[in-house]
Order: sequence, then structure tokens, then C-alpha cells
Amino acid sequence: MTVRDAQPEGAGKRAHEGTSDNLRIPRHVGIIMDGNGRWAHQRNLPRIEGHRAGAESVRRVVEACSELNVKYLTLYAFSTENWRRSKAEISQLMGLLRHFLQERVEDLEKYRIRLHAVGQLDRLPSRVRGALKRVMERTRDNDQGVLTLALSYGSRNEIVTAAKRIAADAVAGRLAPDDITQELFSSYLFTSGLPDPDLIIRTSAEQRLSNFLLWQASYSEFWFTPTLWPDFSKAEFKRAVLDYSERKRRYGGVTDDHV
Ligand code: IPE
Ligand code: IPE
Ligand code: MG
Repeated sequence: MTVRDAQPEGAGKRAHEGTSDNLRIPRHVGIIMDGNGRWAHQRNLPRIEGHRAGAESVRRVVEACSELNVKYLTLYAFSTENWRRSKAEISQLMGLLRHFLQERVEDLEKYRIRLHAVGQLDRLPSRVRGALKRVMERTRDNDQGVLTLALSYGSRNEIVTAAKRIAADAVAGRLAPDDITQELFSSYLFTSGLPDPDLIIRTSAEQRLSNFLLWQASYSEFWFTPTLWPDFSKAEFKRAVLDYSERKRRYGGVTDDHV
């Protein structure tokens, strides 16, 4: 399927003229995968079944990125605040994550995608850390894309952690206050080396960032959808990309066609 097949009804004229070759494809897409619990609740199923179905959506979206040539995909899988959930849900989620890593490594190899992770990884159970490490090592030379899992991730924690590390380097004499630029600050974040997200998608009708990529999203475009994450399809992902490709990003400047 190409982007054009995913054309929403009533989409703008330019989109009809586009092909996936000349569409402006986002380099980096971030997704806040939300709504697994509500999906399960609607079906009288335990929450974990929603998470399990959500893992299938991840598989579909990774495939879609490969088809559309989206090079960086960052998935918000577990937030620092999600540690507040019940022990049972956390342990089921961690089990699912480990299983997902074992199962999906073949796809990452097939599409030549490198796995990366950001967050307070030391808080994860050791078996999850082990699985992450194995998959990251196995995919480290893949050069067609980067899949980043945000795990035990919170952007305020990330920013404070960066500030502490910068302060430590300053105290040790490795940095002067005037060396602290936006670029330097970015390089101390967990996401160092990743471009800022061009497009951030959030499912399940919530319209908030919930502590995801606060610094990095300063000029991101947003796509909010009522679809619950387990129902999020490849076609909808492609619609979001198509919508993005029609937007004008001005970064505070002016362009000829909007005055
Ligand atoms: C998103 O789904 C997955 C995680 C946050 C781990 P939720 O579990 O938040 O689902 P809802 O929001 O309760 O429906
Ligand atoms: C955000 O979803 C975190 C992830 C998708 C991992 P939540 O369900 O935790 O967010 P809130 O609590 O609705 O803001
Ligand atoms: Mg939620």
C-alpha cells in the first residue's frame, strides 16, 4: 500500500497529485500509544489483552514506516508515571515487552532497523534489560531506520538528568557556563543523536503530551485521533503522514503563501 491508497476522503487537491515519492515524509515520528485499557474494557477483557493487541499495532506501524521510508520511529511504551499502576499490570506489561522483543527481532532484522531505548532503563526488571540489550546488540549495524522505545521515560526526568550531568561537568571544569547552548543541552538528553520529532501522534482522543519529549517537541506537528491504539491501522498511520505532508511549518517565520 502506498500513501495514496490511504487517502482520506475529502483530502486536499495537492495530496491527490502526490505520490509517496514526492510527498514530504516526516523523518521522525513519535507515537503516544494510548487506549489499550479502554479497548479491553469495551470487550470485557482484562487490561493486559488490550496491551497484547497494542503490540500488534506496533508491528503494523513499524512495517508502515519501512514502506514509507520514515527513518526514525519513537514509541512511548511506558512512562515514569506508569510506575504508579498496579504491581500486577506492571509485571504483565514487562512480561509482554520481553516477549515482544524476542518475537519482533526478526522483523527488525528484515527491515534493517536498529533498536534503541530511552528512559530510566535501570528501573526496568533485569530480564527486560537483558532482552533489550540483546536486541540492541543484534541490530546495532542495521542502517535503514531506528526504532526507539521510550521505557520508564519521562521528559522532566530526562531534562533534570541532563541538567545534573551538565552541572557535574561544569564543576569538574570540563564545561564553562557559556558552553551551554541548545545543541549542547540536547546532546545531554537521552535522545542525543536522534533528530527532533517532526510528527507526534496520540491515539485514544486524549490531547496531551503526558511527559513525552517536551524539549524535543518544541516545533513538532501533532495528529490526535480518537482511535484506540489496538485499532490503529497502517492506513491511519499513512493518513497521518499524508496530513503532515500537507502542512506548512513556519518555525516563527513567514512564507509567501500564507499572508
Ligand atoms: C497505553 O494504554 C499503554 C500504556 C500506558 C502502557 P493505557 O493502558 O494507558 O490505556 P487506557 O488509557 O487506560 O485506555
Ligand atoms: C501515556 O499514556 C504514556 C504512554 C502511552 C506510555 P497514559 O495513559 O499513561 O497517560 P495519561 O495518564 O492519560 O496522561
Ligand atoms: Mg492511557
